[in-house]
Amino acid sequence: MTAELSPSDKAKYVAARRAVGFVEDGMRLGLGTGSTAAWMVRCLGERVREHGLKITGVATSNRTAQLASDLGVPIKTLDELPWLDLTIDGADEYDAKLNLIKGGGGALLQEKIVATASDRMIVIADPTKQVDSLGAFPLPVEVIPFGWQTTKMLIEDMLASVDVLGRTASLRLTGGVPFRSDEGNFILDLHLDRIADPNALSLALNQIPGVVENGLFLGICDMVVIGTSDGMVEVRDIHTGTVTHERIDTATSETLFADKTK
Ligand code: A5P
Repeated sequence: MTAELSPSDKAKYVAARRAVGFVEDGMRLGLGTGSTAAWMVRCLGERVREHGLKITGVATSNRTAQLASDLGVPIKTLDELPWLDLTIDGADEYDAKLNLIKGGGGALLQEKIVATASDRMIVIADPTKQVDSLGAFPLPVEVIPFGWQTTKMLIEDMLASVDVLGRTASLRLTGGVPFRSDEGNFILDLHLDRIADPNALSLALNQIPGVVENGLFLGICDMVVIGTSDGMVEVRDIHTGTVTHERIDTATSETLFADKTK
């Protein structure tokens, strides 16, 4: 039986489907977090279950680890597999150089560690994530809960000396209490509107005591696969400069996203 997807899910699905086409037998794979990455895990699970694909995944969050195990994708920890062939993940923003903002889902720390420990990173996204300059999406910064208000103050002071438009930080809440990352840390969202020099900002942030990591992924992503709801995908390779377009079949079997309808 085939199933109808919403336009947004179609765009995510075709990007994920195309990216999973780059996965080969024997690969060690970093598995991203978020709604687009969940489609990648579903497509991967289908290849594992129905086509005997042999891969091992390292998840970037407890959520992704659970989804992967539910769908039959073998999972190991990064300590068991310290280096990976490829990571496929979503993003909140990407620019023309494939610099990213990530962490909207609160998993930026594990995502950055896993992507950095990979030979290649492919981002899957829809065209709404593309920006001329990073910063419209609030930049997530993971901080230690101890003294977080001091850390926030130090971050806001530092923002006065870098080229950004906005300069406020807010503690991310969920259900009225601070959101906790899988590592038990808090997230500060920085409202910057435009980041003129992402490298300088990333360095300055990571020098502040209490900051664990920030959501700027600079020079890490190799390729972006952009899906649209009409089934087209655009594949941009930052190293070769090539841009290709193709159509992906959007007819999906209901078993592919059984987890969404549970
Ligand atoms: C998770 O922490 C994030 O980095 C996600 O990859 C990012 O927020 C994209 O999520 P969606 O695919 O749900 O938009």
